[in-house]
Amino acid sequence: MLNAPDTRSFVILNTVDSTNNYAMGIVHSGMAVHGNAYFALEQTEGKGRRGKIWKSAKEQNILLSIIANTSFLTAKHQFKLIAAVSLGCVDFLRSYVKETVKIKWPNDLFYNDTKAGGILIENIFKGNLWQWAVIGIGINVNQTEFSPDIYSHSISLKQIEGKDFDVITLGKHLCDSVLEHIENLKQTNFEIILHQYNAALYQLNKKVKLKRKNIVFETMVKGVSSQGQLLTKDFMERSFDFDEVEWVL
Ligand code: BTN
Repeated sequence: MLNAPDTRSFVILNTVDSTNNYAMGIVHSGMAVHGNAYFALEQTEGKGRRGKIWKSAKEQNILLSIIANTSFLTAKHQFKLIAAVSLGCVDFLRSYVKETVKIKWPNDLFYNDTKAGGILIENIFKGNLWQWAVIGIGINVNQTEFSPDIYSHSISLKQIEGKDFDVITLGKHLCDSVLEHIENLKQTNFEIILHQYNAALYQLNKKVKLKRKNIVFETMVKGVSSQGQLLTKDFMERSFDFDEVEWVL
């Protein structure tokens, strides 16, 4: 039997405030299609997690938002999508970078102790139903200078591999990889996905510094729970929700 035709589109935008805002506009206008992706050559108001800005040199990097239909998931299982998307990004990066790429909890993409990319997922609920997610992904590709104040820990594929890449080709590949992992989430026991996420976890079984309410403390990363909490151990076992703690690098 023939497979159904692939009707999703990959739209390339020259300049946009934020691909996430653009994709969100599509969702709110009722035109959302699962898998449609919006790629920008430039963002004027790129958004990072925790209300931070995401700056990116023009035409140098992947700036991508993918619309995903999340009605197969419940609102309390948002970490399932985070895990699948993170693994999609890791698989993508590992096909270009010879050395190990890791996930810094909850969803930063790390190469050694430096950040090669980040993910910002924004959700659309209708009542209690989780209908759509806009999955925003920024990957540093050809940029080699990062402002030291906010991006002192950034790195690009070019800095790692010593060559330029075609950002649009990579953007399409990333999109396919993330969508494949979302399909996988529908068919696979989440324990297996969680296991893969934990296997890719940055600083697993290492002592790290975390900051909570302005207090810095040391603890050992033991994994991430099925609800997405970071599990650590020092003189006692601890668990942290998203945004409850910050990493101190
Ligand atoms: C983070 O690490 O803080 C998340 C960064 C996410 C950046 C991407 S770039 C494409 C998409 N559009 C945005 O405005 N943000 C995300």
